[in-house]
Amino acid sequence: MAEKKKFQAIKGTRDLLPPETELWNRVEQTAREVFGTFGFGEIRPPVLEPTELFTRAVGGETDIVSKEMYTFDASAEFLAKFREIGKVRGDAGQLGMLSEMNIEEMISLRPEATASVCRAYIEHGMHALPQPVKLYYTGPMFRRERPQKGRYRQFYQIGAEVLEMVPPNQDPAKNIGKDAAVDAEVIEMVMAFFARLGLEGVKLEINSIGDRECRPKYVELLRAELMKVKDKLGPDSQRRIETNPLRVLDSKLESEHGIIAGLPKIADHLCANCAAQYAEVKRQLGMRGVAYAENWRLVRGLDYYMRTTFEITARGLGSQNAVCGGGRYDGLVELLGGPPTKGIGFAIGEDRLILSLQEAGKGGVAQGRDVFVAWMGEKAQATAIAAAQKLRAAGFRVELPPVEQKFGKALGQADKLGARYALILGDNEIATGQWTVKTLTDGSQAKMSEAQFLELLARRKTLSS
Ligand code: HAM
Repeated sequence: MAEKKKFQAIKGTRDLLPPETELWNRVEQTAREVFGTFGFGEIRPPVLEPTELFTRAVGGETDIVSKEMYTFDASAEFLAKFREIGKVRGDAGQLGMLSEMNIEEMISLRPEATASVCRAYIEHGMHALPQPVKLYYTGPMFRRERPQKGRYRQFYQIGAEVLEMVPPNQDPAKNIGKDAAVDAEVIEMVMAFFARLGLEGVKLEINSIGDRECRPKYVELLRAELMKVKDKLGPDSQRRIETNPLRVLDSKLESEHGIIAGLPKIADHLCANCAAQYAEVKRQLGMRGVAYAENWRLVRGLDYYMRTTFEITARGLGSQNAVCGGGRYDGLVELLGGPPTKGIGFAIGEDRLILSLQEAGKGGVAQGRDVFVAWMGEKAQATAIAAAQKLRAAGFRVELPPVEQKFGKALGQADKLGARYALILGDNEIATGQWTVKTLTDGSQAKMSEAQFLELLARRKTLSS
């Protein structure tokens, strides 16, 4: 006999179950509605993508790509060779082969979806559509991080991207006002979504991290300044002086905060175009009534950003309190082989959004059933089935027990399921056509016809919606 084994969800992944999934559905439905009012359409990219897409777009040196991606070589040749080598040279041979994997053959579970949306924009020639192209997505992402509250290895994002091909010979300075308005509208849309959900303690932070013109100069200046204080920094930041000095700015180490406060600020080193755009984004946010705070240390952990970056935090999340991150990424589509294109977008961590709603007591979902049909006797069963069909067709949630139960037991079960009404059908009710309806919230009971019962339910529905 096979050994009994208890399977469990893989570390950092989890099952989402009813009734919580009702809340997930409500959140996603609200996103569809709100994003729809801003003219966004849905894109559903695959979960598997070429590894190189993320290496190029997100950046090979970032934590996401260098440490956290789930990557496979899934080519048939590789797998066949891998099995052969295993037979001949065992594990050692297979390990050697793994170290020689060819990046072009490799695929990864997506750690984020901006790169996928850009790939799809190029693949489907979306530059030929009326611009800008506005897309949103919902779905699972995968990062091999250390799991904790609000941080999972399979987590869910709700994201949106605005992509716009740049016409040839366009003067970049000319469109600063337009880009800023697009940035502000995208941010306004997330804030409108959070407001609709009643998310509490929402704080928006914004920054500009410059462009190809001014950022390299700032990064050099920052590197030089960091070298002077290198001894006072921790090993991660010391390493980042070489690999990505900007990331030192968002260090979580308390001991480094004093040193970081004394470093040169990017806002003082933006080129004229970046400075003008940043000022305009702030003006546009003001016009839209969107409150924000500036945070010059907000650099984000992905390489594709330029100019506008932003993050939103919410209450009740502990250390993992960023519920949304985003920014502008002009040039990313071009980097992936497409035409010169501007881009701005964000992704919301849906797991964290749900957690925050629950912590604030806003996770309540319509639970239970509208009607529990308690029936006894063969004739009553036929009526019960017909009643259930009619009620379900009218959109009510109905529980119809598959076998007859004593009324006492049936009412107990109706209570447990959180039903609002018990429809009691026995010989008497069938003979007279007068149904017994028990209101479970207050225990009252009344006799009524089928038509009266349907009317009562319909009246309750309009009252509660
Ligand atoms: P990100 O900041 O890496 O940006 O992720 C966005 C959000 O996803 C985070 O603020 C957080 O709420 C959630 N998140 C990230 N990792 C985890 C995790 N391990 N567990 C739970 N939630 C997590 C992006 O992904 C960019 N693609 C956003 C973007 C779109 N930028 C422009 N367009």
